[in-house]
Amino acid sequence: MNYSKILGTGSYLPKKILTNEELSKTVETSHQWIVERTGIAARHIASTTETTTRMGTIAAKKALEAADLSPKDIDMIVVVTCTPDKFFPSTACLIQQELGIPPCPAFDVQAACSGFIYGLSVIDQFVRSGMAKRPLLIGSEVMSKLVDWQDRRTCVLFGDGAGAVAFAASDEPGILSTEIGADGYQKDILYVDNKPGAFIQMEGSAVFKLAVMKLEEVASKTLKNNHLTVHDIDWLVPHQANIRIIKATADKLGLPMERVIITLTEHGNTSGASVPLALDAGIRSGKIKRGQHLLLEAFGGGLTWGTALIRY
Ligand code: UT7
Repeated sequence: MNYSKILGTGSYLPKKILTNEELSKTVETSHQWIVERTGIAARHIASTTETTTRMGTIAAKKALEAADLSPKDIDMIVVVTCTPDKFFPSTACLIQQELGIPPCPAFDVQAACSGFIYGLSVIDQFVRSGMAKRPLLIGSEVMSKLVDWQDRRTCVLFGDGAGAVAFAASDEPGILSTEIGADGYQKDILYVDNKPGAFIQMEGSAVFKLAVMKLEEVASKTLKNNHLTVHDIDWLVPHQANIRIIKATADKLGLPMERVIITLTEHGNTSGASVPLALDAGIRSGKIKRGQHLLLEAFGGGLTWGTALIRY
């Protein structure tokens, strides 16, 4: 059996930290409102040199180190991002060159905030079919360039960063299953137009309600399909959009918050980078241990959603 096993993870956060207090000097908001409504206290903001490619490259280097692999071992690169540096080449090709990875398939996947779960599903299909042995999956985002810094409804939410995971095809369990979905009929409640000066547009409460409903539905389906219950899950590693969405989903599943990895307090919502950033934080802090069952989930523009069940 070809499982996609996690060998190593890595991440990168921009040097500059923007706190709620600093934001409340430029827009009509407060630390208290942001923390109560979202759980976010600060976010990292990329400089002009901390590009999607650069951050993704550094995160990937750390993942390779943790995996004890060198760039020449990698035989596929998938990057998830909705903030690429160029229309083309893909960010995956740019990172391939920066890391010195020999010629191999390299491409980007775009599913907004659900991107990393889509990416997991994609690489798992290649590993299961035998077409990839050592894929590298990277989520990297500069959300700050899509944010209207005058719009308090959205500018308090987002941050920049990157996370990466190096996998190997293995007989030992890794990714057990993935579930992905989309509903394009909801395209207008969360989007960014492709034209100069366009920013994130979001109907926050509509997105909130659909997120909680869909995440509970798809997480329960994942557990059922794998003949597991919530008691078998050691860690929920959710997309970090809003602490209230995470809590509501955990509550509906019957999972205590002590078994949920939370990074949004310091990272904000980093879209496709949020799940690998949380995964890396959980692993490096020693919370997530080998052999444990992880349930990853995400929800975002599209609308898109997904879960991945992993034995670490
Ligand atoms: O990752 C992709 C998916 N995105 C999400 O998951 C985001 C989902 N949505 C959310 O997280 C929440 O809906 C928000 C955090 C965006 C908003 O929270 P809310 O509890 O739904 O607030 P609201 O939009 O209903 O606004 C409540 C009030 C409004 O004032 P009025 O109309 O009641 O007078 C807003 O104008 O809060 C006001 N408000 C703010 N006040 C201070 C909105 N943003 C702010 C702010 N500071 N930053």
